[in-house]
Amino acid sequence: MQPDDYAVSAEFYDVLQAHQDEIRVHHLYARDAGDARIGVLDIGAGTGRVTMMSLMESRVGVHAVEPARAMRAPLMTRLAALPTELRARVTVHPQTLEEAPLRGVADVAICHNTIAGLAPDARHALWPAAAQALVPGGSLLFQLPPARLPDKDIMRVFPNQRIGEHEYGGHMVMSADEGRIRTRFGYWVRGSGGALREHIETFWMWPATRAEMISDLEEHGFTPLPGRTDPVVLAMTLRQW
Ligand SMILES: C[S@@+](CC[C@H](N)C(=O)[O-])C[C@H]1O[C@@H](n2cnc3c(N)ncnc32)[C@H](O)[C@@H]1O
Repeated sequence: MQPDDYAVSAEFYDVLQAHQDEIRVHHLYARDAGDARIGVLDIGAGTGRVTMMSLMESRVGVHAVEPARAMRAPLMTRLAALPTELRARVTVHPQTLEEAPLRGVADVAICHNTIAGLAPDARHALWPAAAQALVPGGSLLFQLPPARLPDKDIMRVFPNQRIGEHEYGGHMVMSADEGRIRTRFGYWVRGSGGALREHIETFWMWPATRAEMISDLEEHGFTPLPGRTDPVVLAMTLRQW
């Protein structure tokens, strides 16, 4: 992690992506969050999409781990606006999961849109930390990285959004680059007279297949949760020794 990671994207993340992401994370993880009996751990909480969903769907404590200051700021603002009873159930940890002092705090850990952006050695550091933060028998659910490098550039355009007199827009382009995926986010703001500003932020992703992810996690005490075949999310459980 670099201190200025997400410094550009944090400003645009909620306005351009939040609504669709909210629907998506509810669809992918709400049932598991609702089944939590000890706690929910949100690994790489970002601006708080999974954290908020977990608070609403569960009755247990929620631990939001978010090391990037730029992403944590909107997360804190969102939590500060909650009623006291909800706020009492959520704790924000301003470090990476590896650095956070979390032991057996959750029976459900969710990691959305984060693992793809961790290099293989960073993933190997994350798994033991996830195992420590979970109780035995707990579940780890995460969005799988792309299985392979793209054959050609993939572009996704975010729907334009209006705030007052300004229109906000952006896109991302994923390209293969020497074994990694370069993910370039472009953002723009327009007023009635045309372009006001433009920004670019580049991230890297490391592809891995579902089978590779399962094999990595098995080395760290996890085993696949039976009956979970969602192609987007891998669901593993921490073995009870
Ligand atoms: C692409 S963002 C996704 C945020 C959020 N999960 C979402 O889907 O909106 C990935 C987040 O993971 C965080 N992150 C990266 N490495 C991490 C680590 N080792 N432990 C915890 N969080 C991490 C980053 O700071 C970033 O906010």
